[in-house]
Amino acid sequence: MAIVSLIDRLSHIVGAAFAAESLDPAFGRVQVSDRPDLAQFQCNGALAAAKQAKTNPRAIGEAVAARLSGREVFSDVSLAGPGFVNLTLNDDYLAGIVNEIAADDRHGAWASPAPQKVVLDYGGPNVAKPLHVGHLRTAVIGESLKRLMRLAGDTVTGDIHLGDWGKQMGQLIMQVKQEMPDLPYFNAALAGPYPDESPVTLADLARLYPLAAAACKADQTRDVEARSATSDLQAGRPGYRALWQHFIQVSHAGLKREYDDLGVSFDLWHGESDAHPYVEPLIKLLEDKGLLADSEGARVVVVAREADKKDIPPLIMISQDGSVLYGSTDLATIMDRTQNLDPDIMLYVVDARQAQHFEQVFRAADKAGLFAEDRLEHLGFGTINGPDNKPFKTRDGDALPLRVLLDQMKDGAIDRVTTSLQDKGFSQEELADISAKVGMAALKFADLSNPRTTNYIFDVDKFLSFEGKTGPYLLYAAVRIKSLLEKAGGAPEAAQIMVTDPAERDLVLALAAFAPAMATAYDKRMPHLLCDHAYTLAQAFSKLYASCRIIDESNHTLRASRLALALTTGQQLELLLQTLGIDVPDRM
Ligand code: ARG
Repeated sequence: MAIVSLIDRLSHIVGAAFAAESLDPAFGRVQVSDRPDLAQFQCNGALAAAKQAKTNPRAIGEAVAARLSGREVFSDVSLAGPGFVNLTLNDDYLAGIVNEIAADDRHGAWASPAPQKVVLDYGGPNVAKPLHVGHLRTAVIGESLKRLMRLAGDTVTGDIHLGDWGKQMGQLIMQVKQEMPDLPYFNAALAGPYPDESPVTLADLARLYPLAAAACKADQTRDVEARSATSDLQAGRPGYRALWQHFIQVSHAGLKREYDDLGVSFDLWHGESDAHPYVEPLIKLLEDKGLLADSEGARVVVVAREADKKDIPPLIMISQDGSVLYGSTDLATIMDRTQNLDPDIMLYVVDARQAQHFEQVFRAADKAGLFAEDRLEHLGFGTINGPDNKPFKTRDGDALPLRVLLDQMKDGAIDRVTTSLQDKGFSQEELADISAKVGMAALKFADLSNPRTTNYIFDVDKFLSFEGKTGPYLLYAAVRIKSLLEKAGGAPEAAQIMVTDPAERDLVLALAAFAPAMATAYDKRMPHLLCDHAYTLAQAFSKLYASCRIIDESNHTLRASRLALALTTGQQLELLLQTLGIDVPDRM
């Protein structure tokens, strides 16, 4: 069952009052009050309505308020300022709302009125390179967007879009040749068969890749060799393809482990190379449409527009040395996805610094008639910064391996959890499980609770705090509700929730705010709005816990009501955490 959000219902009621005054019911849009001390909700529509009808807003406000005052939905309707209608709900009406959420198997989640077929491109690691700090946000944000969109009703295909086709592949082939020139892969006269066993391990790749990159940077001949190896690989030279297959397999296993540890998964493990068969038809399509131009030996699509305020360079389809590049594989991938998945929209969770790249690709896709630009979205994100507020780097200036961050977080979590839980009778095993979940919750919540587009500073101690807007605080809140219910022997069957106390009232309003928060998070593709809601909900429950009796409430009906309210809160909170990709321990 999908729940109609409280805001929508109230807007409908207030809209009818506007309609009864011969005004557009759309003026009846209700929002949460800016002044919770005065009212729970407000409608500002009288101001806009008066502007349109060229009358006095206060008069319209009064007429609307008069129509609403009699309704049993409201305990109070009043007029403020130039014509704001302030609304406070009747406790019985609120009880009806929360009992619906309690009975809802989606725990009050919003459902999209028009579910879509979505391709979500996130992860984007590169073959032969271990994940670095830059890969964390795309993984964590992408995973949560996937879960959010699925919860809303969309059909989402998550694709990792492995970087396996660029010049680093040729660099690596040449580096292996440097070290092991006698391997059969380099003998152009030989067309196989090649050994089944990889000549390199994951550790070898991690060592070889930086050597290869440095060599090509320092030595022009090496660079030229690597470039031609890349185009030979792309053209299908058997030895290179066979060696490259080994790179992919070895890397895939290592990457899979890293993503498993993060609780991040992909439906497709396609790479840039999977788009290769689409390059030829793509080139043909561009040629047929007259969109391909020559530029210093390269073939490009011009995407600049007259209205552009900044320079948007052409998208290079084929480089001077005959290779396809990052942009051309992205465009070919759009063709691949269109033909095989037929999505309504394609979303890319990629570093905001790649904005120009996506601008070029999206424009080219639109120009070629492959896919409309307004259905392609680059969901850029900011950087994770060190204490100096600059993007995290190693001492040598390379991006920091993700392992280093994860280990810091893990050690911090073990410390924090052992100190705070040491006398509570947990086994070593339980402590290890709790620490792992606390560490992951701290990391993910810190990342997700920052608006996607901003940068943030990595701060283990702050992220691990059990107080404030942190992952551990939310885990603690969720676990506390679980153990409360366990102690009470569960919530009584068919208990009705009543609203009798200000803390209950606020908690019910918080529960009802899930649907609109989720709808906005979805529309803006902004998971931090879910984090905000989870935090408000946990705080509202803490207040109830501090100010009302629950287990030891002597009035049976009230006790049952509060337990049912706790259960409903716990369910919604767990759903939120799950949607953020955060696992909750059974106890802590
Ligand atoms: N592999 C790329 C990088 O490390 C990210 C890929 C993002 N996805 C895409 N379709 N371009 O920068």
